[in-house]
Amino acid sequence: MYNESFFSSPSQPPDGWNGAQWIGEQPDLAAPAKNCPRLRKAFALETKKIERASVSVCGLGFYELYLNGRKADASRILAPGWSNPKVRLLFDTYDVTSILRPGANRIGLWLAPGYSDDFSQWGWRWEKSKRAILCLTVDYADGTTQTVISDASWELKQDGPILFASIYHGEIFDASREDSAWCAPEGGREGGWNPVSVVDAPSVPLVANDAPPVRVGQPLAPVSLTRVNNTSVIADFGQNRAGIVRIRAKGSRGTAIRLRYAEELDDSGRLDLFTARGARSEDVFVLAGTGAEEVYEPRFTYHGFCYVEIFGYPGELVPEAIVSLAVHADLEPTGSFACSNDMLNRLFSAAKWSMLSNFMSYPTDCPMRDERTPCQMDSQVYEDAACQFFQMDRYYTKWIDDIREEPLNPNPDWRGDLVTLPWRLYSYYGDQKVLAQTYDDMRNLALSFRERTPDGIWREGFGDWCPPNDGRGEHFRADLKLVNTALLVEIWRIIAASAAVLGKKADAERFDAYWNEQRSVFLSAFHDPGDGTFGSGSQTALIIPLALGLVPEEGRAATVRALERRIRHVDFSHICTGIFGTRYFGDVLCDNGLENLWLETLRQTDEPSFGYMFSHGATTLWEQWAWKGGMHSHCHAMMSGAASALFTHLCGIRPAEPGYAKITIKPVFPKGIDWAEAVRKTPRGTCRVRWKRKEDGIYLDIELPPRTSSELHLPSRPPQPLSGPQHSIRLPGNAPISEPEDH
Ligand code: BGC
Repeated sequence: MYNESFFSSPSQPPDGWNGAQWIGEQPDLAAPAKNCPRLRKAFALETKKIERASVSVCGLGFYELYLNGRKADASRILAPGWSNPKVRLLFDTYDVTSILRPGANRIGLWLAPGYSDDFSQWGWRWEKSKRAILCLTVDYADGTTQTVISDASWELKQDGPILFASIYHGEIFDASREDSAWCAPEGGREGGWNPVSVVDAPSVPLVANDAPPVRVGQPLAPVSLTRVNNTSVIADFGQNRAGIVRIRAKGSRGTAIRLRYAEELDDSGRLDLFTARGARSEDVFVLAGTGAEEVYEPRFTYHGFCYVEIFGYPGELVPEAIVSLAVHADLEPTGSFACSNDMLNRLFSAAKWSMLSNFMSYPTDCPMRDERTPCQMDSQVYEDAACQFFQMDRYYTKWIDDIREEPLNPNPDWRGDLVTLPWRLYSYYGDQKVLAQTYDDMRNLALSFRERTPDGIWREGFGDWCPPNDGRGEHFRADLKLVNTALLVEIWRIIAASAAVLGKKADAERFDAYWNEQRSVFLSAFHDPGDGTFGSGSQTALIIPLALGLVPEEGRAATVRALERRIRHVDFSHICTGIFGTRYFGDVLCDNGLENLWLETLRQTDEPSFGYMFSHGATTLWEQWAWKGGMHSHCHAMMSGAASALFTHLCGIRPAEPGYAKITIKPVFPKGIDWAEAVRKTPRGTCRVRWKRKEDGIYLDIELPPRTSSELHLPSRPPQPLSGPQHSIRLPGNAPISEPEDH
């Protein structure tokens, strides 16, 4: 619960809001209600040309902004962006110039619970009555300005058509209670409007949200509609993802259509809801019975689903009457990939949808069950992949602000995100700003880690979370000490490098020493120089030191041999890693001449493998390598880290200098892949690598962005500098292709 100092009482208008006050439900409503009140105000504009009009608004838990009967931004959903309400609140600004008109206008807000008291993340939720603050500014062409603010002159109607909304359980919408003209300039017909309450103003800062908004779109028609019995039909949309449906129906007043969402079907073809756990995942649409076709799509919830069971549909449900709509942050795609191998193409697509489905206004763990948890651990293992696939800088800049304070989990495998992410943004986008702004927090966190480990060995946390396991929670953690202690080395490497980039000489020297010290601690605790193994000898125990450059050069070959032996002979050419090992699996194998073995593991179709997921029809990646259990979501983003290698290793596009000012091109050519192509939109322009196997060798086509320099690394050849935008290279014969060896 928030303490009272969270609110300044009575409502104090924040600076720059022209006196706008927080208005909303009665503040003393018993526990936050799950219904969705509306607020509105009629106002008149002068009969002059409007140059520009904008609305700044924050509404809690969620809000939608309406003007003259129209939603101000039709595809926007789940606003405002999530923030820790004890630290800051985010507001949005809309350009509404084209919606306003001289004379009578009406502005409205629709409020909903949002991340409310039932959100599983204590401390990350809005637990008070729903409220909003708003300021409309109209600039006329003659240089004058008019403002409309939220204040006691607004009206509120507590009961509207949305009787219930919850991010887990869905929405209940009764169209017979709808007053569609509620925000029309001339106002709605129905009563029930009362003066709004001016409520306490949260005393935390209101901050402009610059992150890409969450939007709804990308319609998918059902690939099949299957009648289950007299009362229900199951729609299969062929793609699991986060979203909602839009449904059309014509029927009598009071007809209730129930929509139940699921990721999977059971053997009998009915919905299997095991992945949803405690989330009811259900929307109810009650028809008004207007005689015309009625349309509904939920506004204040979303689900993770591939299938929807529709109960109580009046008449025959035709495919045109229902579409699935994706919900995710509006992120520009910056990476595309294709190759001759179907399994890898499926990995690319499943990773893409797993990430998108978890990019709400913060990275969630999963979109379907009673969590939607902001997990820094999950996030840090696929941030590299995300930056290959999408333009992530603004999104992650907001996330860094979100996680500056998070006292719940102080371990490197979780909190380390605050150090590794600013460095990643610098590497991919070449912008020092976030690094400079976060440096003190990064440094303080690293120093607090050091204080907590007098001997340099970290003993708590999750480690290599979710390796192959028997479904018992106590086996969800692996190589805990090794992973966390290795992450400490990486953290000091990044802090030292960041200090150097930012010109902090003394810090750079001091933290360089900490880095070396921590690396020695790691090696003496986990490395067996005799046979090159590390720690438990698991795949992850060997992959992490290789990936993070912790293996002494003279011992590298032995560690690589140990890894190959482990994968081939102990794990029978299957990937057997949790989330940290999975992130680096492809990178390490490809960097060490084991690309054929990498492909072998990707071709497996039994457990554990990505192929096993795909053999079950997966279109997103699972939380665990096993199909079913108590903590087995089928749309977790954390295994998507594996897909980074498709860009950086199979096609070999890597930033050699921050922001791709210099690019290393270092592809691999695993036997069994005939061609591969990756296109990356870098901050400098497009980089494309395409290779194709022909009878007389491998043909490589490279397109480089302008103003970059590049170096090509090919097997058994010295690095070759490339200048100019286009390059076509032939590698004669089959020389560079290493056959799988039997050991
Ligand atoms: C989440 C995971 C997360 C874990 C650790 C789970 O409930 O779904 O993705 O990493 O909790 O707290």
